[in-house]
Amino acid sequence: MSHKIYPVPEDWKKTARIDDARYRALYERSVKDPKGFWGEQALRIDWISPFTKVKHTSFDTHNVSIRWFEDGTTNVAMNCVDRHLPERAHRTAIIWEGDDPSVSRHITYGELHEAVCRFANVLKKHGVKKGDRVTIYLPMIPEAAFAMLACARIGAVHSVVFGGFSPDALAGRIEDAQSEVIVTADEGLRGGKKIPLKANVDAALDKTPAKTVIVVTRTGAEIDMQPGRDFRYEEEAARVHADCPYAEMDAEDPLFILYTSGSTGKPKGALHTTGGYLVYASLTHELVFDYRDGDVYWCTADVGWVTGHSYIIYGPLANGATTLMFEGVPNYPSVSRFWEIVDKHKVNIFYTAPTAIRALMAAGDAPVKKTSRASLRLLGSVGEPINPEAWEWYHRVVGEGRCPIVDTWWQTETGGALITPLPGATDLKPGSATRPFFGVVPEIIDPLGNVLEGACEGLLVIADSWPGQMRTVFGDHERFAQTYFTAYPGKYFTGDGARRDADGDYWITGRVDDVINVSGHRLGTAEVESALVAHERVSEAAVVGYPHDIKGQGIYAYVTLNAGVTPSEHLRKELAHWVRHEIGPIATPDVVQFAPGLPKTRSGKIMRRILRKIAEGEFGALGDTSTLADPSVVEELVRERAGK
Ligand code: WTA
Repeated sequence: MSHKIYPVPEDWKKTARIDDARYRALYERSVKDPKGFWGEQALRIDWISPFTKVKHTSFDTHNVSIRWFEDGTTNVAMNCVDRHLPERAHRTAIIWEGDDPSVSRHITYGELHEAVCRFANVLKKHGVKKGDRVTIYLPMIPEAAFAMLACARIGAVHSVVFGGFSPDALAGRIEDAQSEVIVTADEGLRGGKKIPLKANVDAALDKTPAKTVIVVTRTGAEIDMQPGRDFRYEEEAARVHADCPYAEMDAEDPLFILYTSGSTGKPKGALHTTGGYLVYASLTHELVFDYRDGDVYWCTADVGWVTGHSYIIYGPLANGATTLMFEGVPNYPSVSRFWEIVDKHKVNIFYTAPTAIRALMAAGDAPVKKTSRASLRLLGSVGEPINPEAWEWYHRVVGEGRCPIVDTWWQTETGGALITPLPGATDLKPGSATRPFFGVVPEIIDPLGNVLEGACEGLLVIADSWPGQMRTVFGDHERFAQTYFTAYPGKYFTGDGARRDADGDYWITGRVDDVINVSGHRLGTAEVESALVAHERVSEAAVVGYPHDIKGQGIYAYVTLNAGVTPSEHLRKELAHWVRHEIGPIATPDVVQFAPGLPKTRSGKIMRRILRKIAEGEFGALGDTSTLADPSVVEELVRERAGK
């Protein structure tokens, strides 16, 4: 474990909005008087009708209820667009950088206003009303931002589905959200490769029908259009009014649903609401990234993930920022692409995932050093623990030792960063997410729920609510209570393990449940298992994560074949391909090991702990195997694994 400390640079100290003393004082206030603190902070957004109640929350297992600013009304699109018009109509809201390096676009706040209004009017024309769910399955093009904000404008609830998900995964999400309108593109374009989004939607709708599909033209590919159901966005947009009034929304009206994986079952629809989410996303965006008026800010995430929601769209736009949206990938046309974009658009703040940093680090320093990066002031990391080597490289090579790194720990459920440095206040330790943000009360507990004090390691829970917290699982409040508030009653259970050092800094150690984090993408092992057992030759499957140099974690699948089926290299490949097809490329197993039997307890429970150790190649650390129904199964698996 690295103990190196990078103190706040002197020039940062001088200009800091929040220095160490102020962080400590404000933090103290925020947790002692959350109503006072958040009541003031909430005034950073515009309200239509002001709130009088600030916080009304309960983490009681039998009565989980989270409400912030509940009697206020506002509109998120008004806050992200309209309120900036008097001062910023001609300033750039979105810089769009295409997959092809010669293609980019600047969209001003004035243009954003018209685009969002037109999109909103198209949705309205197709019958979308307040509270209706709209599924957005788009590549990283400006229309994704327009569509999200258009939903927010009229009070519809968007459910963005990552463009890398398969038709099956898309269908499940459309069905769960009971969404009648789908927004997609003819094709996506990433790294020079085309992704058949409209064809995927057609396949999804064969399983679960929808009323309307709105198709944005991206590549101009020939696609099937079903008359009466499918409409070209450009034709529709030309026919509607360029203005659309925004709806007055209650602070607790839903803003979006975002599906995320957990330990068990199908992905659940994390539901975020209007007022508290926007206050939290915009405040964290400003303070964590030290966003200043005029900065060019770039978060490399996809809008299909929560990072894209909070830190490409809602946080930055609520702050009137210039936010960069990148359609492509870090290694196309070359591994210098990120840094070329930084130079091209004079990016000041850059936020990415450890997996990208590790992949670029593996390509050496030269592709970075041939670019200037002089505009960079701050770097950020998100999505998984960053190993100190990658942190050091990011700091030394990319940031040339001058840019602080904010390692932001958070989750789809939390809406925004919860544990993170503030660059003017926090001394940095490579690999540590450091300290809680204002209003966040992390605790480390042992498996029995005892709160540990001082330097310790255990499970990470949060003791009280913050405004950006998800409110429920869409359509299943019971599952919300069950998943997050039952294991340790009265606390929000994060699913992560953490260590706290003697300085009070937090180090996230990774998931303690059956969630794996592959290249920063969150996957439930149960999802991959159910895809595998859906194959006609598979009788049983167990999936675990294992350490992977670039991806952080890789997917290791143990597969038991049906009686009489002969294992073969061909079948191994077929199964990997099958999962890719069922869920999407991110879920493709890295290793498929045929297992004549799986280690089970006498009551039939698969011992994943053992499977994890075998996958890691740690055969000496298998622990007690005497409770297994058939201990010889383990020897067999070890023999097979050792042969790889
Ligand atoms: C992990 C992404 C360590 C963690 C915003 C969490 C991290 C899960 C960090 C949520 C970080 C995210 N350090 N681990 N800075 N950020 N994680 O919902 O395990 O896609 O529970 O949200 O990613 O993933 P999700």
